Amino acid sequence: MRILGIESSCDETAAAVVENGETVLSSVVASQMSTHGKYGGVVPELASREHLRAIVPVVRLALEEARTSFDDLSAVAVTEGPGLVGSLLVGITYAKSICFARGLPLIGINHIEGHIHAALLDMAGQIELPAIALVVSGGHTHLFEVRDDFSYRLLGKTRDDAAGEAYDKVAKLLGYGYPGGPVLDRLAPHGNPKAVRFTLARMKGNAKDFSFSGLKTAVLRWVERHDLTAEIETRRNQRNASHEDWLRLTPKPTLDLIASFQRTVIEELLRRASASIEQLGSCALIISGGVASNAGLRAAARNANLPCPVYFPTPALSTDNAAMIAAAAFPKFRLGAFDDFSLRAKANLALA
Ligand code: KG4
Ligand code: ZN
Repeated sequence: MRILGIESSCDETAAAVVENGETVLSSVVASQMSTHGKYGGVVPELASREHLRAIVPVVRLALEEARTSFDDLSAVAVTEGPGLVGSLLVGITYAKSICFARGLPLIGINHIEGHIHAALLDMAGQIELPAIALVVSGGHTHLFEVRDDFSYRLLGKTRDDAAGEAYDKVAKLLGYGYPGGPVLDRLAPHGNPKAVRFTLARMKGNAKDFSFSGLKTAVLRWVERHDLTAEIETRRNQRNASHEDWLRLTPKPTLDLIASFQRTVIEELLRRASASIEQLGSCALIISGGVASNAGLRAAARNANLPCPVYFPTPALSTDNAAMIAAAAFPKFRLGAFDDFSLRAKANLALA
């Protein structure tokens, strides 16, 4: 039973073939990083244009790598939201065309649900439910309960910036390229995580909500107090810098700042996830989304003595991909929960 997944919600055009909801036969991701990098963030109009250019070859390559033809497919799954409308539309329209031409069922998938399913891929049903899912990416920081019928309950979310967005903004502020998460993640082990003490705002209302904009401002204040103008300017003028280049261009106090920022984000994420596990007696913790590829977060979660096992997708399946979309479609395929051709792009689609 093979499902073709298509993902185009932001700045990655991706297609994948997944067998029986858990075996990845192919996963092709065309990144638009080089297009958006010079603007320091995703430019929606450029993103849709790039998706249009990439969608046909990316789907073709995914089928080729999986040695699969359209005739071997059981369904086509596509991200219906949340995301950039113009970008989502490219994937949805192409998915509908394949389904129309080949008489295949169409399954619309919530991108966030996809991220959760990324952790289930290649796990052969090992993850016990109900679980807590922490989805941390450039657009989302959500804490869900995943029930054993794959229904979801939202426990908390960010009130302002997403965790990945905080990484990207702090990296930009310090003069590094976009996306900033991977750059800061690799620099953090070179600094002292206890050098700078940041205190995060305590949330009124839902204690499981997150807030990262105060931390971003605290980093900005620190930078202003220490006058980093010259070193930031030098980094801003770099093109195609390698990790070694960034390391060479980052003095120790800035490495300490980055390490302390990363430690604060990680502690905040794990503190709230761990409180939910204890309160609900969950059987597993799933951490997914782009920030789940963070080496510091992975190590901290494994050493946190949580009362249940913690699961991460492989780093390649943590960031946006289409295998997670095909995987999330599998339970819906079994239930016959198909969409018709009125499926629309939903910029603000919620999971729960
Ligand atoms: O899931 P994703 O590919 O796209 C969204 O749905 O947003 O996540 C991208 C985000 C970016 O903000 C990027 O900086 C962040 O994930 N990210 C990381 C790391 N790798 C990617 N953040 C921290 N550490 C990383 N290693
Ligand atoms: Zn994502």
